[in-house]
Amino acid sequence: MEINIKFSFSLLVVAGISMAMLSIPTAKADGVKETKISAYIHDYFSVQYTPNATDFAVVGFPGKNWNFTKFGTLLVFDDLVTEGPKPTSATVGRLQGMYATTSFDGNYLSMFYSLVFTNKAYNGSTIQIQGTIDQFASVMEFSVTSGTGKFRFTNGYCTLETLSFYEPTSYALLRINVTVKHY
Ligand SMILES: *[C@@H]1O[C@H](CO)[C@@H](O)[C@H](O)[C@H]1NC(C)=O
Ligand SMILES: *[C@@H]1O[C@H](CO)[C@@H](O)[C@H](O)[C@H]1NC(C)=O
Ligand SMILES: *[C@@H]1O[C@H](CO)[C@@H](O)[C@H](O)[C@H]1NC(C)=O
Ligand SMILES: *[C@@H]1O[C@H](CO)[C@@H](O)[C@H](O)[C@H]1NC(C)=O
Repeated sequence: MEINIKFSFSLLVVAGISMAMLSIPTAKADGVKETKISAYIHDYFSVQYTPNATDFAVVGFPGKNWNFTKFGTLLVFDDLVTEGPKPTSATVGRLQGMYATTSFDGNYLSMFYSLVFTNKAYNGSTIQIQGTIDQFASVMEFSVTSGTGKFRFTNGYCTLETLSFYEPTSYALLRINVTVKHY
């Protein structure tokens, strides 16, 4: 069984089939499955709230500028997550949570967020993510600490990488890759 699954996965890779949202559960002998998900995040950043912003500061160090590079700033976000890189591509769900700048030099963020699924496959399930990371690293790695619904007892890791940034609207396109073990 396991051999077959691995074989078909390598076939996909060999055939160069690029699935936008890769979601491959692999059954293991002890009932533990490994699922990989790759999806795209659409983030509109603004230091202070503006009508279309999906990511902005809500509070900061008293008497100082609030910003993602300023120690003590707390920001919240609610970003669309899609299967492909276009915002109009099929919806996977939302990436929702908060982060604070927690290093005095402004480089590190402590982030607490969830991938909240609304797609057919995982509708209503969530994956819970956290980590303190160098926000200027090309790839940020987080721990997946738990999950709900189809992801009960989940743990694993995920990466976030920024693919592009469009300054006029502060629009960032990011990719999230999740690898989790669950039942
Ligand atoms: C918000 O988005 C709407 C619809 O795309 C657009 O018409 C409007 O100009 C945007 N507002 C701002 C402040 O960016
Ligand atoms: C926030 O920080 C960024 C990066 O240092 C900077 O480009 C931007 O101008 C700052 N925004 C405000 C409102 O201070
Ligand atoms: C997800 O669940 C909600 C609430 O039960 C339902 O309204 C919605 O249609 C479901 N979406 C999909 C894609 O199945
Ligand atoms: C994320 O997954 C995509 C698709 O599988 C892959 O091309 C990309 O290199 C991965 N990124 C990281 C940081 O692993």
